Amino acid sequence: MFSSVARRPRAGDQLNFKGAWVQSPRLALGTAALGMEYGYGYCRGRIQDSISFIRHAYTEGIRYFDTAGGYGDAEILLGRALAGTTDAVICSKFPLPQVKATQLAASLERAVVHSLRRLKRECLPLLKLHNMTVQQTGMPGLDDALATLVHKQRVQSVGVSVYQQHEVQASLQLDMIRTVQAPYNMLNGAIANTMLHELASRRVAFWARSVFLQGALSEQIHVFPKALQPLKKHILHIKSELGCPWHMLPQIALRYCIQPGVAVILLGLRNRIELQQALAAVSQGPLPGALRTFIIRQQCKTGCWVDPRTWP
Ligand SMILES: NC(=O)c1ccc[n+]([C@@H]2O[C@H](COP(=O)([O-])OP(=O)(O)OC[C@H]3O[C@@H](n4cnc5c(N)ncnc54)[C@H](OP(=O)(O)O)[C@@H]3O)[C@@H](O)[C@H]2O)c1
Repeated sequence: MFSSVARRPRAGDQLNFKGAWVQSPRLALGTAALGMEYGYGYCRGRIQDSISFIRHAYTEGIRYFDTAGGYGDAEILLGRALAGTTDAVICSKFPLPQVKATQLAASLERAVVHSLRRLKRECLPLLKLHNMTVQQTGMPGLDDALATLVHKQRVQSVGVSVYQQHEVQASLQLDMIRTVQAPYNMLNGAIANTMLHELASRRVAFWARSVFLQGALSEQIHVFPKALQPLKKHILHIKSELGCPWHMLPQIALRYCIQPGVAVILLGLRNRIELQQALAAVSQGPLPGALRTFIIRQQCKTGCWVDPRTWP
């Protein structure tokens, strides 16, 4: 699906996780909800159904898969679903271990080896440091420990998954970071609106996540708890201004993220219908300029509830 051959960038190109220019956008399947109970109003499906859904996504052309050691059984499901494939790019995330600098490389390697066993893989194409904080980026020996993992061919490339702009900026102090994964959606453009240029100039790829804001940007908002009433009101207002039916709101949310500088759009999809809707949305391409401008204007009216960490 992607070429690792170095070439000059063309219009519409994005950086892939190896720092090579490729045509975008790529969709990635997020697996938090497949591996554990997660999100409002849903129950986790049967293991066999999740495996068959992951295989279906692969058959439909999805080649990027995002998981984490902390996502319950997700790594095991991916390992079983994608066994025997050679072109599926499975990325996993790890919290930075709280150890001395001298033990950092060994400790990270143990976590990676454990994941590789669950994923049934020899090498991780992309390791992301999970919820990396500013303080952690200053950890002595971190760049060296990450370089050791690459040198030992446990991982091919390294990135971070973060929430805030200052965390993105801090992570750029690390030479080894080639991918930044951060929230980007219709209600929250804080990082992408300001940092895509700088990331591209440093040849760091941007992965948009929380594109549906954990289902809030879909009909699912109706089962969100009462405490998130302001969020619901805001989304209902936007939907009414857009004049779209419910099934189109997630498609607009996805198309909003199709833009230069967004290398991969990571989606938490749970079933074949959501996947079909996502593929259809991608085939329509970016949103028309006027729609995009309207959405960006609404962003200044959003409150702290765009950060799921503040949710009940
Ligand atoms: N037509 C429709 O109705 C429709 C269409 C598409 C999607 N949806 C729904 O939208 C939801 C997916 O939303 P999404 O794409 O924003 O992705 P998501 O799967 O909800 O996850 C977004 C990110 O939030 C972070 N996160 C925050 N709190 C977490 C927690 N407690 N546990 C695990 N991860 C947490 C994770 O990132 P890090 O781990 O990197 O921090 C995760 O990648 C699904 O429920 C799906 O069914 C509905």
